[in-house]
Amino acid sequence: MRKIIIALIYLSPFLLSCNAQKNSSVVAEINPFKYTSSKKVIAENGAVVSAHPLASKVGVVILKMGGNAVDAAIATQLALAVVYPAAGNIGGGGFLVGRLSNGELISIDYREKAPGAATRDMYIDETGKARTDLSQNGHLAGGVPGTVSGLFTSHQYAKLPFSKLIQPAIDLAEKGFAITSGEARAFNSIQESLKKYNSVMPAFVKQTPWKEGDTLIQTDLANTLKRIQKNGAAGFYEGETANLIVAEMKRGNGIISLGDLKNYKAKPRTPQTFNYKGYKIVGMGMPSSGGLLMAQMMKMIEGRGIDKMGFHSVQAVQLMTEVQRRAYADRAEYMGDADHYNVPVEMLASDKYLKERMKSYKNDKATPSTEIKPRIDIDSESEETTHLSVIDKEGNAISVTTTLNGGYGSKTVIGGAGFFLNNEMDDFSIKPGVPNMFGAVGGDANAIKPGKRMLSSMTPTLVLKDDKPFIVVGTPGGTTIPTQVFETLVNILDFNMSTEDAVYKPKFHHQWLPDRLDVERGFPQAVKEALQKMGYTIYERGSIGRTEIIKVLPNGKFEAVADNRGEDAAEGY
Ligand code: GLY
Repeated sequence: MRKIIIALIYLSPFLLSCNAQKNSSVVAEINPFKYTSSKKVIAENGAVVSAHPLASKVGVVILKMGGNAVDAAIATQLALAVVYPAAGNIGGGGFLVGRLSNGELISIDYREKAPGAATRDMYIDETGKARTDLSQNGHLAGGVPGTVSGLFTSHQYAKLPFSKLIQPAIDLAEKGFAITSGEARAFNSIQESLKKYNSVMPAFVKQTPWKEGDTLIQTDLANTLKRIQKNGAAGFYEGETANLIVAEMKRGNGIISLGDLKNYKAKPRTPQTFNYKGYKIVGMGMPSSGGLLMAQMMKMIEGRGIDKMGFHSVQAVQLMTEVQRRAYADRAEYMGDADHYNVPVEMLASDKYLKERMKSYKNDKATPSTEIKPRIDIDSESEETTHLSVIDKEGNAISVTTTLNGGYGSKTVIGGAGFFLNNEMDDFSIKPGVPNMFGAVGGDANAIKPGKRMLSSMTPTLVLKDDKPFIVVGTPGGTTIPTQVFETLVNILDFNMSTEDAVYKPKFHHQWLPDRLDVERGFPQAVKEALQKMGYTIYERGSIGRTEIIKVLPNGKFEAVADNRGEDAAEGY
């Protein structure tokens, strides 16, 4: 026995290094300094689509190692936290919607929550002014992060050890990777904010401008990820990482406490499901408005012959705009964290209510938003969020949307821990009746309360055909998220468009207030003019969303398409 113990002690460094080598081999297949990127793949065994080529590649390597779609989704999210720090995160939150190989439908809520010391009026100063500067930037803007708890809650459905799934992220943070041109531009654009909102200068601050191909090494983040690898969720919510978060709060008047962190728990939720033309649509329920808005919008168009109207026809765009307007008016009035506010979900999704809602619809004229619901406006979000879609050959389909809220969240990086803190508190209605940074306001349903989750628009979605995965889809885009997922699905299910066209063709968005129809550049001129004649105010804008989609083809193969509005990438094998 003694001999065995001595031999084990003698061998342990070797065993550990073998283990480390084995873990490192996860990314051996990927060269993070020279990598390709594809917008579309057709795959037989599994596919991953995400905002960054390296993250999608990590997901596929995990599938090849025997992981399922849940394993791949976890590893891809962790990789995104390193290679796509604008929105990929461990300092934010998100939602997962899944269909498991046994047919079970799951959804996991890892939305941030208001710290225990938060108050309803915490962003209102003594003169009554709403301080959106504080709800959007710096330490006080941060909600208690949910992502790490969400990843561990998802892990019960995975096959590989968590330590393996996090290793690629550790390697990418520790050894570095070559940044893309988009990242270089984004890092350059936030240099001043980084200096303003940080007392410990993070790895993203650089004396000379960032350029494509520069190596980004994030040692502090690698060490945080190693603590999570070693200690599980406690490696984030307790011990050194938690202490670093609280120390950062003290440096910048933030209020997240050790107790807030220790008590954070992701919550399994019942997915929001409904049927549309024989398909089953599976989405996220409260505290995301996404699933309910999808149900409302799709049920309001159902039975009106939209397929015959045709893609980008004046009639179809007008009908879809009017259902968007009506659903978003309800979002403002009724939706919030259902654990803290009585959200009438069943009523809002009921056929009876939606039929009633469409009584004021006229097919030749805009319904002014003032006639739909007076006074209360919706709260809007920044459009930086990120989505990943994953599928495997076992029949698991996973749709995840995750966010820091604004690009790089609060712009505060936790000193010594290397990750951005979210600015999700701004997703609450910080003062009823006062417009936030997008000119919108919110109501009671989404008022701040300690421990409450702020209302989200994230819409990770699955479409099932005969109860089997057919489409995995989602997008970033703040309040535009539900309308973009809605349009992508109508493009496929009603207009029979190719997956690429369904994603790439110009989209539009109406959110009740402001009473205007946003259209992407390239939207057909004749349609805009016809809608203007009906009374619509048209606002032309840059790209809306970055949709990541996987569709199962009739031959059973996976068609994975990444949006061409960003550097997003599809991978599969
Ligand atoms: N912060 C974006 C969302 O939750 O909708």
